[in-house]
Amino acid sequence: MDKKYLVKTAQDLVTDTKGILAADESTGTIKKRFDNIGVESTPENHRRYRQLLFTTPEIEKYIGGVIMFDETIRQYSDDGKHFPELLEERGIMTGIKVDKGKVDFPNFPKEKLTKGLDGLEEKLEEYRELGARFSKWRAVIPVGGGSVARPALTANMKNLAIYAAFAQNAEIVPIVEPEVLIDGDHSVEKCEKVTRNTLEVLFTELYDYKVILEGLILKVNMIVPGRDNPNKLSPKEIAEHTVRVMKDSVSVAVPSVVYLSGGLSPVQSTEYLDAINKLGPHPWELNFSFGRALQEPVLEAWQGKDENIEIAQREFIKRAKLNSLALKGEYRSEMENE
Ligand code: 13P
Repeated sequence: MDKKYLVKTAQDLVTDTKGILAADESTGTIKKRFDNIGVESTPENHRRYRQLLFTTPEIEKYIGGVIMFDETIRQYSDDGKHFPELLEERGIMTGIKVDKGKVDFPNFPKEKLTKGLDGLEEKLEEYRELGARFSKWRAVIPVGGGSVARPALTANMKNLAIYAAFAQNAEIVPIVEPEVLIDGDHSVEKCEKVTRNTLEVLFTELYDYKVILEGLILKVNMIVPGRDNPNKLSPKEIAEHTVRVMKDSVSVAVPSVVYLSGGLSPVQSTEYLDAINKLGPHPWELNFSFGRALQEPVLEAWQGKDENIEIAQREFIKRAKLNSLALKGEYRSEMENE
């Protein structure tokens, strides 16, 4: 394994001006997104939509990496360019979701187990051949309805660490993603406690499996109250909770932490990211790897129609640029209307 290459890839992927676009919706998830705008969910429509994102003018100023789904990493643009190659020409790295989704955890009714270790070694080799330089594995931790079951948490964090070891062995930078879910009416303190606990177990497993912390990226939730909790917090309060947890729980050997949007609105996601960086400087890049928060306005503008591509791309570049400004704490709400 070339440790230097891994470390450099992780450093180059996330910088103080560029984040990550999560465009790795599985077949089921992209169907849900397309159903919302009345577009048929076919591989060709998925390709047209991803092409719209990847060919947005100047997107390489704000996006350093794109996470794809298995279908997408095998697709081509209208002019016959393999998507990873098209992105590479613009200095954007290709990433790939390698987990195989989640199953209900036997004996623990609300918990899920992320699967995908079977055949992972071969898959990583294939994805590297296809142009992937980084990867993602997501485990979910539901908060609502009592405490998190320890055996489920341990199994998920162990699988994340094993995945990360395999990815690094294949010279692919792993994004290690434990997501404490926003569903429920829990308090911000509960989210904080569960996230701390999750990160503690995760880092123990990462050490045990000898994962190189300098060569991975942590992707995690911001510390927010449950979606149905009526107490709304200011961006500054969210940022204070989030940064406190990072300082206590994330090794400074990790080069960057990227946040998922996880059901926050596009504007909230940017405001919170901005507030987090206003509390800096921090020992890591605190950056974004948003899916919905970058794409919701794009899908809304596109509606599946070629004549809307330009306006949809304008929505994409706008969110990417505002999130890039938030990396330096330079976002202002007035910019939403410019
Ligand atoms: P969201 O930003 O929509 O939560 O998606 C990010 C992601 O990749 C979740 O795994």
